[in-house]
Amino acid sequence: MSDHIIVERRGAVQIVRLNRPDKKNAITRAMYDAMAAALRGADADDAVRVHVFLGAPGAFSSGNDLQDFLAVATGGDHGSDVFDFLVALATATKPVVSGVDGLAIGIGTTIHLHCDMTFATPGSLFRTPFTDLALVPEAASSLIAPQVMGHQRAFALLGMGEGFSAEQARDAGLIWKVVGADDLEAEVMAAADALAAKPPKALQLAKKLVKGPREPVLERIREEGELFLQQLKSDEAREAFMAFMARKK
Ligand code: COA
Repeated sequence: MSDHIIVERRGAVQIVRLNRPDKKNAITRAMYDAMAAALRGADADDAVRVHVFLGAPGAFSSGNDLQDFLAVATGGDHGSDVFDFLVALATATKPVVSGVDGLAIGIGTTIHLHCDMTFATPGSLFRTPFTDLALVPEAASSLIAPQVMGHQRAFALLGMGEGFSAEQARDAGLIWKVVGADDLEAEVMAAADALAAKPPKALQLAKKLVKGPREPVLERIREEGELFLQQLKSDEAREAFMAFMARKK
């Protein structure tokens, strides 16, 4: 496994750091795999009380790796890496704190719908260009986003592909707080440490109650996944991925 995902333990906090800055932290299948394993491992480990997700300066993530999408679109196997990660995230029993600086595209945005406290810097951009890529919302975002921010803002995000600044994301309820870039990691870790200092069982019960039943979320992940795969293999999606690749030449 490469060092594109760095997993670190600090006391009772596990930090999963996306570390592929040359590609703006685009997430490959191997990275989903590593993140799923880290989440599952820490969630089952009594020594860990809080999960943390961090990106790189300027890029939390540019979303799913478009080369990987193109590989599936042109007949490759899609595997279960993304699904496994989403299930691990949606069913995590311990609080998840995340920190965003810069780009948060596609799953770089929808991941935070599953987090319990997200901090972002003023220059951050939350955007999900699913329909521009001829794709559909994923990660149960089509279920959770309308609950969090109401239908119209959710549609602007997921259907229109409208970009949300950190302040707009906070006002929409997508994230918890906007903090200065120099303070991001310290703020994230302070929240994680404060959570880790609480009675763990009570904290997990609180999370469970606040999140509500998981079955509809898992069902939506599956439903979206089928449509996503169907669209991924469509001519219009293939064209969109090729257009992105061609743009780079
Ligand atoms: N998948 C694969 N590679 C990606 C990527 C992605 N999602 N996002 C960025 N990259 C790569 C670029 O191809 C480029 O690689 P190169 O230097 O080898 O050519 C590198 O990361 C830097 O990206 P670049 O486009 O030059 O940076 P930028 O700051 O001008 O733009 C983005 C950043 C994120 C706005 C732009 O790269 C983009 O639109 N990426 C696609 C985002 C996307 O659609 N994600 C899927 C959502 S479902």
